[in-house]
Amino acid sequence: MVNKDRLFNRLMELGQIGNTEDGVYCMALSPEENEAHAQVKKYMEEAGMTVHMDAAGNLVGRKEGTDPNASVVMTGSHIDTVYGGGMFDGRLGVIGGIEAVQAMTEAGIQTKHPIEVIAYRDEEGTRFVGSYSGAGHLTGGYDHGIMEHADKDGKTVRECLKECGIDPDHVDDAKLPEGYAKAHLELHIEQGAVLESKGLSVGVVTGICCQIRGEVTIKGTASHAGTTPMDLRKDALAAAAECMLEIEDEAKKYPQAVATVGKITAFPGGVNVVPGEVKFSIDMRNQKAALRDAMFDKCVERMKAVCEKRGVSLDVNVLMKDDEGKPCADHIQDIVAESCEKAGLPVFRMPSGAGHDSSTFADFCPMGMIFIRSKDGLSHNKDEYSSPEDCAAGAEVLYHTLLKLASED
Ligand code: GLV
Ligand code: MN
Ligand code: MN
Repeated sequence: MVNKDRLFNRLMELGQIGNTEDGVYCMALSPEENEAHAQVKKYMEEAGMTVHMDAAGNLVGRKEGTDPNASVVMTGSHIDTVYGGGMFDGRLGVIGGIEAVQAMTEAGIQTKHPIEVIAYRDEEGTRFVGSYSGAGHLTGGYDHGIMEHADKDGKTVRECLKECGIDPDHVDDAKLPEGYAKAHLELHIEQGAVLESKGLSVGVVTGICCQIRGEVTIKGTASHAGTTPMDLRKDALAAAAECMLEIEDEAKKYPQAVATVGKITAFPGGVNVVPGEVKFSIDMRNQKAALRDAMFDKCVERMKAVCEKRGVSLDVNVLMKDDEGKPCADHIQDIVAESCEKAGLPVFRMPSGAGHDSSTFADFCPMGMIFIRSKDGLSHNKDEYSSPEDCAAGAEVLYHTLLKLASED
């Protein structure tokens, strides 16, 4: 049995690091993330695990199996947040994994296979570019191009790695050998409202969406706001606004597709200057790469038409592209479903619209995920919340799943 209060208290305690009125700021590769990892290390040790930081800065807690050479059952998620994030996104997977292991330790259970609980670095890809960079190092999915990317204060990934005690020239040493993992599991909040709408606390995840992220640059002409008549302007921001509406309209045409502009900067940024240049982010997702790509291509076509009509230039730079949506392995889904039954919960299967560390494992070992209900479907928001009961229900399902996978050959 997992300990509901211990699990929830740890989530709340961890959530104080970087907490502000506007939500949690525990950005990837920041001092706050290091402080949070130090706290998580203590929890791992309390759960009876040995702990180390791998060459990419991920925190790894290990409970040894009776056969230390057996393949490892891995579970984990991330601690980093978006700007003004919540206390559950990612953290539940780490703290829930620790709780599942601690429940085994307390019950005197030692499984055949070792179990590892990992807190991955930089899942969000919100401070820099490119999600899952911590987990990507383990399975060889890391794009070294992002090393020189800078955050909004001009600090590069390389500099921040060094500040966290991680050698940027040796992050590849974290790569796991083929056959290392028997499976990878991840407990996560749903971050949407499907489970809540169905009155369910837990869901069995069927697969993870694929994303494109990029940056759009529109260049017009900066000019005087008082002396440039409306019909003689090359206003990059007005063009960007029209492009965003085209994207929104296009995305509505595809099943399960979503498209978001979350970040925008106008230059030179003066109240009395017609904006000469605008940069904005794009994030487009679907379960199927073909549909996502069709949507992306059509959006680019529609933006081109807007920019031509307005006499401004358009440049679309793709910064991250998942090759395909990642299905959860059928037999792992079945074990998670069985574990729901063991925990007295109905079985409900659903896809994930969010990206997760587990997607980097889909081509490396069998992968599966467990979702729990998010209050009001909110996430990436300071009001993100899941009840202690739902957190514990998810951790209980994870416990049974890990136990089965780690006990059997
Ligand atoms: C991660 O939270 C993502 O899906 O953007
Ligand atoms: Mn997450
Ligand atoms: Mn997130």
